[in-house]
Amino acid sequence: MERKRVLSGNRPTGRLHLGHLVGILDNWVQMQKDYDCFYEVADWHVLTTSIENSSAIPEHTREMVLDWFAVGIDPEQSTVFVQSRVPEHAELHLLFSMLATVSRLERNPTYKEQINELNLGDQVSYGLLGYPVLQAADVLIYRAHAVPVGEDQLPHLEFTREMARRFNYVFGEVFPIPEPHLTRAPRLPGIDGRKMSKSYNNAIFLTDDPDTVYKKVWNIVTDPGRIRLKDPGNPEVCHVYSFYQVFATERTGVVGQECREAERGCTGCKKELVEILIKLLQPIQKEREKYQEEPGLIEDYLAHGTEKAREEAIKTMKAVRQKMGVGRI
Ligand code: TRP
Ligand code: SF4
Repeated sequence: MERKRVLSGNRPTGRLHLGHLVGILDNWVQMQKDYDCFYEVADWHVLTTSIENSSAIPEHTREMVLDWFAVGIDPEQSTVFVQSRVPEHAELHLLFSMLATVSRLERNPTYKEQINELNLGDQVSYGLLGYPVLQAADVLIYRAHAVPVGEDQLPHLEFTREMARRFNYVFGEVFPIPEPHLTRAPRLPGIDGRKMSKSYNNAIFLTDDPDTVYKKVWNIVTDPGRIRLKDPGNPEVCHVYSFYQVFATERTGVVGQECREAERGCTGCKKELVEILIKLLQPIQKEREKYQEEPGLIEDYLAHGTEKAREEAIKTMKAVRQKMGVGRI
């Protein structure tokens, strides 16, 4: 039986952190077992918000893909490719742009958030407004059945589903309606308690060495009500405890109880967490080195993956043009 297809992607913004690992990558790795997986470096999407930084994209792509391979994305098994090297995405994006209304795009919550967060005012590009149109093209050009993403991507995925339905209804069945696949992991905060993010400067990176991990864990905000060792703590408001909930579920019972009964100090609690994280990161970093040692390996895999991806994209575009009746006489 043919395996169902997965597509997901990430914008290349450099090295990845623990938030990426539990929010997306674990899920990607897992899905390789049961699905035919396509994983995309969404480099055009980066341009929607940081066009003036485009010269950083090659290095960011390299770092991100190294992290993907390091955590267990297997380039021999999955198709790992670069968006901008498959020009058919641009063609489908153009055709979808005729099916997408401006008012629908303006209602997209992610779009509104970005305008506020980046303070864009009237500097919003046509490309940023069309971000979900490009994402819909990414997913649908591979006729994907499932899209493993973080919760923040759900509005984009809903839009993708609308595009698929709309196209199928107007021109005839081409696209399966893709389903989101969310991770089960609880949300991982950064060391300051906000969402872990490179731009908040609160992330623990997959490439952080033991010293760096130690220093960062030291700065994780604990229960602010617990001043002395003999004060009973409340793990529910402690961000160190949030890390246990994600990375050491088997320890949460004991840790929680000892904290509440003031039998565990925050220093020891953090030390244990440092050990847990170092143990988690070591094999990832070792695997990363293997790929790093051989120059050209990443490029070879990307070239190979892109070729395979492009074949599929070309097939879909043939069907799309055919159904729409464009390009024929
Ligand atoms: N918007 C996604 C992000 O910011 C990246 C992305 C681009 C994507 N194309 C995609 C995700 C297709 C899933 C499917 O992470
Ligand atoms: Fe947090 Fe551990 Fe301190 Fe409790 S003992 S407040 S769980 S760091």
